[in-house]
Amino acid sequence: MSGEVNGVRETVVVARHLLPAGMQPLRGRFEVVEGGLDATRPRLLELVPGAAALVADPAVPVDAELLDACGPGLRVVANFAVGYDNIDLDACRERGVVVANTPDVLTQATAELALALTLAAARRLSEAERDLRAGRWTGWDPAAYRGLELRGGTVGVVGLGRIGLRYAELVAALGAEVLYVARSAKPAAERELGARRLELAALLEAADVVSIHAPAGPETRHLIGERELGLIGSGGVLVNTSRGSLVDERALAAALAGGRLGAAGLDVYEDEPSVAEELLAAPNAVLLPHIGSASVASRDAMALLAADSVIAVLDGREPPSRVA
Ligand code: GLV
Repeated sequence: MSGEVNGVRETVVVARHLLPAGMQPLRGRFEVVEGGLDATRPRLLELVPGAAALVADPAVPVDAELLDACGPGLRVVANFAVGYDNIDLDACRERGVVVANTPDVLTQATAELALALTLAAARRLSEAERDLRAGRWTGWDPAAYRGLELRGGTVGVVGLGRIGLRYAELVAALGAEVLYVARSAKPAAERELGARRLELAALLEAADVVSIHAPAGPETRHLIGERELGLIGSGGVLVNTSRGSLVDERALAAALAGGRLGAAGLDVYEDEPSVAEELLAAPNAVLLPHIGSASVASRDAMALLAADSVIAVLDGREPPSRVA
């Protein structure tokens, strides 16, 4: 049973904030310290020495410096997210620190958000609402705000993992044809959804909507740049709920401003929480503040899963989802 070493409670440092669903199981057994949402890097470096576990999130870079500040007692980093590009996995491995993430419990919420962004961008919801709120709506107009209908349209899914697959199922249920890019073929999706696997360039050219569901890393940085945006084209929609680094944001803003891309729906950005001025000013962009997994059910389940990972490793067991 974890919790105490020589009669002293072990310390779990939550770098920023953990919901009560995750705090509750931890508080009973450990000394839990929380940095708060506004914890700066220097504050975090002050907070972590002596931690047996660290709960991080996508806004917390976990690198050699932070791991060394924790000290040799650190045994697990539990990331409150499915993505773990904020964590230097090699540095964790070198120090014998286990890394866990929170997959599955956020698949539906994130796929639904990608669908919401798809519909919002394709039907120009942000632009229409902005006009209404600003008093620019002058009456029903048959020609105004015409957009793209998913039924009969073609949706390209870049990355057919758990979230990409759920998103593909949702758009297929609305009558869209599904194309996908993935490292390996997905026979079940081909059989059940009629999905077709293509090379990236061919998918971009064929799709009306392109939705990105691939992980961040050096090999996917700026996967979608000027050339790729040109292939999606002036009638096309780009949706990104994965990580900002996959899209060259300046090229995206320029393509929207120049009418070379039809619309974009984004939940993630290259330098969160700042969003490039060009993107804020871009027409036909629906911009959300990284809320893909933010359903009540999903965030509670993620918090609980992060806590379970901490408890498992400090108990000497495997965490529910280990990435290193
Ligand atoms: C959120 O961005 C996640 O990776 O879960």
